[in-house]
Amino acid sequence: MSEHHKKIPKETGIDHSIELLKEGYNFILNRVEKFDSRVVQTRLLGEKAICMVGKNEAELFYDTDKFFREEAAPSRVQKTLLGVGGVQGLDGEEHRHRKAMFMSFMTRDSLNEVQNLTKREWERVFAHSPEEVNIYETAKIVLTRVALNWAGVPYKEVEIKNWSKRLSPLFEMAANIGPKHIKSRRSRKKLEQTLQGLVKKLREGQLDVNQSSPFYNVSMHRDSDGNLLDPHVAAVEILNLIRPIVAIAVYVDFTLLAVYEHPDQVCEIQNGHIQSQHFIQEVRRYYPFFPFAVARVKKDFTWNGFDFKKNTMTLLDLYGTNHDPTIWESPNEFKPSRFKEWQESPFNFIPQGGGEFDFGHRCAGEWLTIDVMRVTLEYFLHEINFRFPEQNPEYDMNDIPPVPGVMIHLKG
Ligand code: HEM
Repeated sequence: MSEHHKKIPKETGIDHSIELLKEGYNFILNRVEKFDSRVVQTRLLGEKAICMVGKNEAELFYDTDKFFREEAAPSRVQKTLLGVGGVQGLDGEEHRHRKAMFMSFMTRDSLNEVQNLTKREWERVFAHSPEEVNIYETAKIVLTRVALNWAGVPYKEVEIKNWSKRLSPLFEMAANIGPKHIKSRRSRKKLEQTLQGLVKKLREGQLDVNQSSPFYNVSMHRDSDGNLLDPHVAAVEILNLIRPIVAIAVYVDFTLLAVYEHPDQVCEIQNGHIQSQHFIQEVRRYYPFFPFAVARVKKDFTWNGFDFKKNTMTLLDLYGTNHDPTIWESPNEFKPSRFKEWQESPFNFIPQGGGEFDFGHRCAGEWLTIDVMRVTLEYFLHEINFRFPEQNPEYDMNDIPPVPGVMIHLKG
């Protein structure tokens, strides 16, 4: 049966990259509303781009027969956030093999270890903190220690601030242009050099590290042909583990913002009506972090009457899907109880991407992220005494990622 063909509504103009920077997380939703279509066409970075939002659209986007990832991410994002040669740009068997390595680090034991480290590092940092604490800046230090310890990367305690300063621009400035973009590139280069050096030392038998650690296992990982990874690629993959752990600081800041803005919901945890896990899930749904995922059309196909042409850049709106009123009742309300009887699917709640972990590009660190956030929330609610000073934490919807900059005041 032939499908009824429809034209994808198209935004006119030479390029809309500037609007993307200006409108940020609302860029795709604004066009979806304007054209009253969940699939729209625009132009970004000088080429045609299809933008989509929603659960069915996510299911399409994560169909690996229809989309591929090689060279899908813009080169400026590869040179900052992602790195070149990492798992994000692989397809097919090569991707499955590399992704299996990442998922092998996410065992229950390993996640328990990350939980213990998270609690330990918050305790350590608050043992010496001044009364006024900037949550985001403190979380970056805490999580840099968690990341390096959990991954088993050799480091000296005196260097911790340096590691944190180098890792942060990779995710804080990846969406910037100009000097911030250059700073982000420089940081990546330095980190890749350092890690590459450590990988080489380990392979030459000059480093003694825990053989069950991710650092050891990435360094000694063999591709499907039985070859060790190029040391540069090994460095990129080690960064793919430690960079995003530090980036959880953004979610930690939002978690504390939610505590500040929704004390009634904190009471709901305290009186047992909701669990801290529900609160955390709502933080990941409600607040903006990763705006969209990018892929390219593998071969011509028609879906819901729309023609997708081979090689077209395609963006799936992660933020928009988490605020889609056809999935979420009152999406713009912060309501953790919605997760009590939530019907989970791999495509309806996608702050860290959708689809399958093992076969698709869904975030390898999603369980780890949730564990770090939950332990952090519980630590703040049950283990320390603090209050919020007078403040007005704000964030911009075109700042990627946004950082509200919450402050707390520790009480003795
Ligand atoms: C800080 C919170 C995090 C957010 C918002 C986040 C978000 C994402 C997103 C949106 C993707 C891409 C999905 C796609 O392309 O379809 C992704 C991929 C990935 N993430 Fe995360 N992530 C986070 C934390 C982590 C952590 C803690 C780790 C590891 C410890 C991690 C490791 C990865 C890896 C390896 C990939 C590539 C997966 C693949 O291409 O198959 N992420 N993440």
